[in-house]
Amino acid sequence: MESSVSRDDVKGARKAEIAIIGGTGLEDLLEEAERTTVGTPYGFPPLISIGEVAGKKIAFLPRHGIGHVTPPHKVNYRANIYALHKIGVERIIATNAVGAINMNFKPGDFVVPHDIIDFTKGRHSTFYDESPVTHIDFSEPYCPEIRKLLIEKTREAGVQVWDRAVYVCTEGPRYETPAEIRMFRKLGCDVVGMTGVPEVVLARELEICYASLCFVSNMAAGIGDRLTSREVVEMSRKVIPKIKQILIEVIRYLPRERSCSCAEALREARI
Ligand code: HPA
Repeated sequence: MESSVSRDDVKGARKAEIAIIGGTGLEDLLEEAERTTVGTPYGFPPLISIGEVAGKKIAFLPRHGIGHVTPPHKVNYRANIYALHKIGVERIIATNAVGAINMNFKPGDFVVPHDIIDFTKGRHSTFYDESPVTHIDFSEPYCPEIRKLLIEKTREAGVQVWDRAVYVCTEGPRYETPAEIRMFRKLGCDVVGMTGVPEVVLARELEICYASLCFVSNMAAGIGDRLTSREVVEMSRKVIPKIKQILIEVIRYLPRERSCSCAEALREARI
């Protein structure tokens, strides 16, 4: 099953072309949304809302479930990404809260990462556990076409946006130690979060474009006072109107045809 994933599975069943994965509060981005259950070989994802934005069919998937009930290390990332693939999604725009490791970044800033370092442990991070052995190229983990528009539209929204950043993904759910953050800084990481991986990997494995609009909710551990989830949640609420505005513009301007190479990720990837 896992090695035979293909877009043929979804022919004729396209319900949405672009998906947003994010926290609660973004659902009302969609006009006249309907909630739908999508079964997958990996289990059920949270209910997916499907509606329209700027004349395009858009899906919204609340990563942590409705009411934010699932912690980052327990999210069923494979079910989430496979379900979006199944309803025909070709592009995913994720939103992620991050802590700033780079001292130039400040709470409230936006970041569009260009690379990742994976410090997760024990998450199911591939659809290809069986033959044929499949190694996707990950030289450019995020879709360049979506990144470019995200950067442009975030800039136009009049907020600070960092257009290059290395995102390190930790396992969580605890926040990091000051020594871990010092290590990540030495490794060249700019921001830290708990949800960017394996989403970005799984999307590429199904030839879906993926990019992330991150917002800095806090300075990383050891830089300021102790970290609280309250500050993360408060900043998430604060940035929601800007995120919505940016996403609507990105969706409006994304050309229907893809011009990146994400759609060919499986070409020459199988042994
Ligand atoms: N660390 C990990 N994940 C996070 C943080 C952080 O400081 N802030 C928001 N998500």
